[in-house]
Amino acid sequence: MSEPSRDCPLCPRLAAFRDEWRGREPGWHNAPVPSFGAADARLLIVGLAPGLRGANATGRPFTGDYAGDLLYSTLIDFGFATGEFLARPDDGLTLQDCRITNAVRCVPPQNKPETAEIAQCRPFLESVIAEMPRLKVILVLGQIAHQSTVRAFGEKPSRVPFKHGGEAALGRVMLVSSYHCSRYNTNTGVLTEAMFRDVFRRIRTLIA
Ligand code: URA
Repeated sequence: MSEPSRDCPLCPRLAAFRDEWRGREPGWHNAPVPSFGAADARLLIVGLAPGLRGANATGRPFTGDYAGDLLYSTLIDFGFATGEFLARPDDGLTLQDCRITNAVRCVPPQNKPETAEIAQCRPFLESVIAEMPRLKVILVLGQIAHQSTVRAFGEKPSRVPFKHGGEAALGRVMLVSSYHCSRYNTNTGVLTEAMFRDVFRRIRTLIA
């Protein structure tokens, strides 16, 4: 049960928002966004939630918004993706030893999922993790993804606080945390490309 159904009813507010956008943009995906990449990958990346005009429209995580431009170009540079990223699910880009999912699968209004919604969606994250036998590193993007992933391992976020560049052993995997690669964070200098690349350099070392 690692993927919610297209009409997943677990979060009434998110289901209503999804329905509203199905009416407004019938050509968009407007449904829970499935994980991208094979389950035998050693790296799992956990984002926050689909962007309204990005993953919610295209149906592929981080595809169609700025956060994806930075993420996928970095993945290509570090050998975790091959092909060309054209911000479309049919661009032929393939992930290599890497899988991408989101802590919350449906687009939330104002990009802000509520605590109860994050908790409702956590079993899907837990299933994604459980079905990855070779998993070595989980990269979490931002504090919400960090906390939900820590909880998915049955730990308290107070024991594993979020810190950019932080690392923590969670059971059989290493958790690596980064500021989210959103346009807001890069525009304000919270996260620079160099900082993001340093995180991936470290992940390559951990996986080797
Ligand atoms: N797109 C996603 O799929 N997840 C994010 O966290 C941001 C954009």
